[in-house]
Amino acid sequence: AKSEPLKIMISGAPASGKGTQCELIKDKYGLVHIAAGDLLRAEVAAGTENGKQAKYYMEKGMLVPDEIVVNMVKERLLQPDAEENGWLLDGYPRSLSQAAALENLGIHPELFILLDVDEDILVERVVGRRLDPVTGKIYHLKYSPPENEEIAARLTQRFDDTEEKVKLRLQTHHQNVEAVLGVYENITVKINGNAPKGQVFSEIDAALSEVLDKKSKESSSS
Ligand code: AP5
Repeated sequence: AKSEPLKIMISGAPASGKGTQCELIKDKYGLVHIAAGDLLRAEVAAGTENGKQAKYYMEKGMLVPDEIVVNMVKERLLQPDAEENGWLLDGYPRSLSQAAALENLGIHPELFILLDVDEDILVERVVGRRLDPVTGKIYHLKYSPPENEEIAARLTQRFDDTEEKVKLRLQTHHQNVEAVLGVYENITVKINGNAPKGQVFSEIDAALSEVLDKKSKESSSS
């Protein structure tokens, strides 16, 4: 029998490289990338009531309340494309209550990837990050510069990407990370995220291949 599609979570401090690795994972494995931060920024950009409230917390580097986030992510996870192709959940859950909400829905990942990056590197990554509003691609002025002048001219910066704000985001991360790790301890793989992005991806790729191998063995013996 064909095995069920992959269900993966990726976590790590602000600017640890989650979005960058998700682009690479999505290209190779065809999973649907669901990023809590991207869903929230889309609400902010659309000017919805949820977006207005979310922006207040995002500007302070705090977690957006569950009343807004939990349903938003749940609805996206239950869309047919995610159910058919598998999903890659980025930046969610970030608290015990969010993890519990998923458990209550019977939503369990097969692998929890934790990107481990030193704090001085995180600040440099945040300050140099730029986004392409046309393709959604993530750049860094030093580590992943744009391919040409046309792209360079249209790059934008996130409203919470300042040194001051990343320090607040880091504090929030430290307050919550242990609780979430406790829930997924048995399926966690910790990856050194300080290395160049290709090297980080090789480690993630190896961990994902292992999960896929195990799943195909299980489904062929059942
Ligand atoms: P969110 O958008 O999730 O932000 P974050 O966790 O702070 O993470 P980032 O998106 O900043 O970084 P990343 O790890 O994706 O790094 P990237 O690949 O871009 O959340 C924003 C806000 O939304 C939160 O503060 C909160 O308010 C709210 N929110 C989100 N989720 C929530 C939830 N579950 N509950 C409640 N509220 C929530 O890389 C960063 C830079 O480094 C880039 O320029 C990249 O090119 C570069 N780079 C990446 N990898 C490497 C490498 N290996 N070497 C060199 N450079 C690299």
